[in-house]
Amino acid sequence: MPPEDDSRWRLTDEYFERHLCGEDPALRDVLARNAAAGLPNHDVSTLQGSFLNLLARATGAQRILEIGTLGGYSTIWFARAVGATGKVITLEANAHHAETARHNLQAAGVADRVEVVHGPALESLSQLALANAPAFDLIFIDADKPNNPGYLERSLELARKGTLIIADNVVRDGQVIEDGSTDPRVVGVRRFIDAVGQNPRLGATVLQTVGAKGWDGFAMLLVD
Ligand SMILES: C[S@@+](CC[C@H](N)C(=O)[O-])C[C@H]1O[C@@H](n2cnc3c(N)ncnc32)[C@H](O)[C@@H]1O
Repeated sequence: MPPEDDSRWRLTDEYFERHLCGEDPALRDVLARNAAAGLPNHDVSTLQGSFLNLLARATGAQRILEIGTLGGYSTIWFARAVGATGKVITLEANAHHAETARHNLQAAGVADRVEVVHGPALESLSQLALANAPAFDLIFIDADKPNNPGYLERSLELARKGTLIIADNVVRDGQVIEDGSTDPRVVGVRRFIDAVGQNPRLGATVLQTVGAKGWDGFAMLLVD
């Protein structure tokens, strides 16, 4: 995509952020601390975080599972949505990311309702299933894309009828349509989409997005 289009996407995001999201010092501080701690800026954008927060509130989600924490930016949007009575469990393989997220969640005043689980998400998901964790209302998949098919399979074990599953980064600048791609992230997303399409338990769509984070998209699945 030409850079001028990309910059217009960013400016448009900034316009909507200014008018709809307002100043949010807590979230601004999170991004500053993430940068200072050397974390990559792979968090969702402000408008996307707000979108996830609205979805969680609109569905009345009280139990949210997140796969891929980074510094806890999207986690905070979810934690705010569930309120003091809700629970967010977020899975992160990188110890430094998990520690930064714990610090950020504390500073944002939502640590009381969030559990950061350190370890490879596939293992953490199995442990949750073994422990008979109550079903989650909303599951957000946003970690290493090659594992997306496994994340889907294990998420379904932790879901109920009506659970909303959202997976980020399924468009990847349109690379998802390249059936000969050898990029393991593209392959992972394509296998995930195949598995979703073949599962009669799932109603699904993809919302393509442009903006501060480039051209990408969310897959949204409703469990029947
Ligand atoms: C895209 S970032 C998450 C962004 C975050 N959801 C946000 O919007 O603020 C992906 C995160 O997944 C983590 N990750 C990668 N592979 C993982 C794995 N196998 N298990 C758990 N976490 C993993 C990475 O360390 C990284 O912190």
